[in-house]
Amino acid sequence: MADLTRTGVSIERDLLRKFDDAIAKKGYGNRSEAIRDLIRDHLVTEEIEANRVVVGALTMVYDHHRPKLTEKLLEAQHGAGGKVLAATHVHLDHHNCLEVIIMKGLGAQLKDLADKILSLRGVKHGRLVVTSTGRDLGQAGRNKANDRGLGSASIKARSRPRRRDAHTFESVGHSSES
Ligand code: NI
Repeated sequence: MADLTRTGVSIERDLLRKFDDAIAKKGYGNRSEAIRDLIRDHLVTEEIEANRVVVGALTMVYDHHRPKLTEKLLEAQHGAGGKVLAATHVHLDHHNCLEVIIMKGLGAQLKDLADKILSLRGVKHGRLVVTSTGRDLGQAGRNKANDRGLGSASIKARSRPRRRDAHTFESVGHSSES
């Protein structure tokens, strides 16, 4: 069991009501788990900004009839120094392919690799989602039994709490028509 500390926070009533409404819509069963997720989210942002080792998934759609594009995509991945862990390919239709490339490495390296791939002509759209390896985020979900007292008022309990959104880099690729 994680070593828990209870803490109290002074907060305007109206602000807290808005927060409670927002997290209830997201499916959080109690305020404590929502606050823990916000804290983890902050820590993940710091991991990325500090250029630590993170994991990411690049999702993209491209036109496989574009000359040499398939070779260039493979070259970029083979030249990435082992940062690409896996890739999944789906033939969407006669022209379009969906590929998800899963990678692990320093935040800046993953962003560079994603930018390199997304800027290739024929890649129509893509997005890199980066998150933590999870090692420094504690034992999420193992201390719900202790969600009582300060900061843990029960909120219109629904199903399971939904996980927070992962980080999304702003780099979005669009095909450049010449
Ligand atoms: Ni395909």
